[in-house]
Amino acid sequence: QKTRGHGQAPVNIALSKYWGKRDKALNLPINGSVSISLPGLGTETTLSITENDRDIIRLNGTTLEPEATFAKRLSQFLNWFRADQTTAFSVDTSNSVPTAAGLASSASGYAALVLALNDLFDWQLPKESLSLLARFGSGSASRSLFDGFAVWHKGHQNDGMDSFAEPLATLWPELTIGLVKVDTREKPVGSTVGMQQTVDTCDLYKAWPEQAERELKTIVDAIQKKDFTLVGKTAEHNALSMHATMIATWPPIVYWQPESVAAMRMVWALREQGIEVYFTMDAGPNLKLLLQEKDQTAVKKAFGERDIQIDFIQPFE
Ligand code: DP6
Repeated sequence: QKTRGHGQAPVNIALSKYWGKRDKALNLPINGSVSISLPGLGTETTLSITENDRDIIRLNGTTLEPEATFAKRLSQFLNWFRADQTTAFSVDTSNSVPTAAGLASSASGYAALVLALNDLFDWQLPKESLSLLARFGSGSASRSLFDGFAVWHKGHQNDGMDSFAEPLATLWPELTIGLVKVDTREKPVGSTVGMQQTVDTCDLYKAWPEQAERELKTIVDAIQKKDFTLVGKTAEHNALSMHATMIATWPPIVYWQPESVAAMRMVWALREQGIEVYFTMDAGPNLKLLLQEKDQTAVKKAFGERDIQIDFIQPFE
């Protein structure tokens, strides 16, 4: 056996969202989702077995207190992989610093960790199986095993063996992602808690599972046809619908800041001018834009004039 395992994985942005679990222990989603990975932004993890009596977890070069939320969640995940009670791991994990933050690092984090475990224990498992394992750490991590587009199937089985992600073969070099930085502070309600409160208290949520599955299919078909307009408008509508369920939750969950709404209005104004740009948003105030490479200069200029920071990423470069 190797003494050290290594893994690296990108962050991903959902074009149709995962929101709601049908099984909290197994992290099984109520609906499927589709995402795009962002190369160059993500997590790198090294892992080994230590003689220490408990896990040692380093995040971005700093050793965490075992009681820290991040460390506790990670150790709990590692419980699935200990030979016995006495096995302890030493984990060294770093996120590549996103200039425009607000990107889920739990997704790339658990995907990189599972790749490191696969390397350490020499499992030689296919990516789809590793996706299933990453799902236990964080649902969205199931999609971070792949470059490009990935579809996470909700699955039907109670044991979750059919709930994992698979890549889509489509390459789309013109597709560009814009990261609009509104606020990089930690979100007030994490997605795990947020989606549970939504499932428990939001009447509007009853319409979500069917809409989400329908929009997932629309987006996958549109990706395969490279129908940018259909991908963009379906993704934007899907994100706004998810946020509508968050707002209609009790207590209400509102991730938007005034600047988020200002940025949305910018996107809509650009579309009025014939520049085709769409947005999506996750459990935070930042926007992620979908555009085509030819419109990058116009979009940069429009946001620049309002002093809003934006970074561009070409997922297929
Ligand atoms: C809004 O994957 O972070 O970003 O499974 O509880 O770890 P857990 O939740 P998480 O939720 C992501 C929610 C989202 C939408 C998405 O990425 O699909």
